[in-house]
Amino acid sequence: MSSKHKVKIGRNDPCPCGSGLKYKKCCMNNRSVSSVNIKDKYMQKYKIMLKTEKDVEGIRQAGRLALETLKLVEERIQPGITTDEINTIVHEFTVKNGAIPAPLNYNGFPKSVCTSVNEVICHGIPGDRVLKDGDIINVDVTPILNGYFADVNKTFFVGTPTKDAKKIVAVARESLRRGISMVKPGNRVGDIGWAISRYAEGEGCSVVKEFVGHGVGLEFHEPPQIPHYGRRGHGIELVPGMVFTIEPMINIGGAALRILEDHWTAVTLDGSLSAQFEQTILVTENGYEILTPFDPDE
Ligand code: MF3
Ligand code: CO
Ligand code: CO
Repeated sequence: MSSKHKVKIGRNDPCPCGSGLKYKKCCMNNRSVSSVNIKDKYMQKYKIMLKTEKDVEGIRQAGRLALETLKLVEERIQPGITTDEINTIVHEFTVKNGAIPAPLNYNGFPKSVCTSVNEVICHGIPGDRVLKDGDIINVDVTPILNGYFADVNKTFFVGTPTKDAKKIVAVARESLRRGISMVKPGNRVGDIGWAISRYAEGEGCSVVKEFVGHGVGLEFHEPPQIPHYGRRGHGIELVPGMVFTIEPMINIGGAALRILEDHWTAVTLDGSLSAQFEQTILVTENGYEILTPFDPDE
């Protein structure tokens, strides 16, 4: 962490180290102390836990497992498979690799993965739904490996995609890319959502507002929230060591949603297709590192 990225403390302000001296007479030019201070500041002010290099390596390893899990699922997706079979694949592979599926029993969620088909926006519960040719399905995987969480999801085609399926999946994927491209120290949380909604709405699609990206790493959902809409230049300043997800949910129809009687499944109110992609992102000195990187050609 270099001092140029910290949130401004005035030269004549009291030094945040608590010495009682003016900042300029104390820690102003001391990089290591400054970076400790910003960690304290982000915790006190925003409850954001900036990650250490050790934390980041732990999340990276969880991310590697999450991606392998998604690859395994992708190989098995075809017309005729049920969402429960996907749950079994994810559960068994996660446990076999010494990890815990974070969704299982999380606030009462009954399964090890979220499977969201067609008009389901997110939090679909695996069950006996049989996938059919032309469906799209989002699979959202979050293993806990050695105490570290990585959160990643992708939307897959089942068999041959329809025209609408191709469109919404392409727009959701590009929305995530546009959001990620805004991640660098000095930019703000609002820049991410601004870039996403400007693009997605420009493509005639809509952005879900009720579910947001989130800090992640030592817990499933940590501060801050990362909305997929926002105002350019507004919100918390991004600083190195922040780890959060970006996970835009994009609808081909309207943005409105409802929750089914299972208290989890979120569906589009108009029944239109919804797609999502999610990555876990680290803010670095110069920009970002994706801790759950998809294949380079995606
Ligand atoms: N993985 C989801 C996310 O991206 C959260 C799922 S919560 C669950 O934040 F309980 F439904 F698993
Ligand atoms: Co998430
Ligand atoms: Co997720």
